[in-house]
Amino acid sequence: MKKLKHLFERNQKWANDIKEETPDFFTQLSKQQAPDYLWIGCSDSRVPANQLVALPPGEIFVHRNIANVVVHSDLNCLSVIQYAVEVLKVKHIIICGHYGCGGVKASMEDKEHGLIDNWLRHIKDVGRFHSFKLKDLQGEEKVDRLCELNVIEQVNNVCETTIVQNAWKAGSDLSVHGWIYDIKDGTLRDLGTCMVGEDRLLVD
Ligand code: CO
Repeated sequence: MKKLKHLFERNQKWANDIKEETPDFFTQLSKQQAPDYLWIGCSDSRVPANQLVALPPGEIFVHRNIANVVVHSDLNCLSVIQYAVEVLKVKHIIICGHYGCGGVKASMEDKEHGLIDNWLRHIKDVGRFHSFKLKDLQGEEKVDRLCELNVIEQVNNVCETTIVQNAWKAGSDLSVHGWIYDIKDGTLRDLGTCMVGEDRLLVD
């Protein structure tokens, strides 16, 4: 018996439903992808990029990792950004964090979590940079504030990459956005850190 048969059945139904509505959907999409958006988000199963913004396949280029971190030397993430910006020519890069992020929460704990602690160091650094904004907060409120600060920090990291810097120097109107998703009610919020161009003008 085929393993995970129920997932193949769900896939068949999903593909059939789309083809019923738009018979040439997959044929057209197989010829090219031209997404306007690069989404950098958390791996958390409750934060699926396309579903949150109700967009079909082909509309969002996606990179996800634990706690939506953009590390200066992470070749995986940087390769995704380069491909998205230079080849796909996306117009927007969205860093989307979420409240109650397990990675952010774990970075605030004193106990050991194994290998992942090395990754979480990046979020611990964000906490250290902004310790004055966090010192009077407790519990969930403190975790959620660090979730927001982490997104803002990653927006800056994306803007600092040679890829985005070079795109802006070449006159691109690429913009970088910082969003946060609330897993308790399914809504997105813009953190007001959208940046455009070398001078990083804040725009609405
Ligand atoms: Co998370």
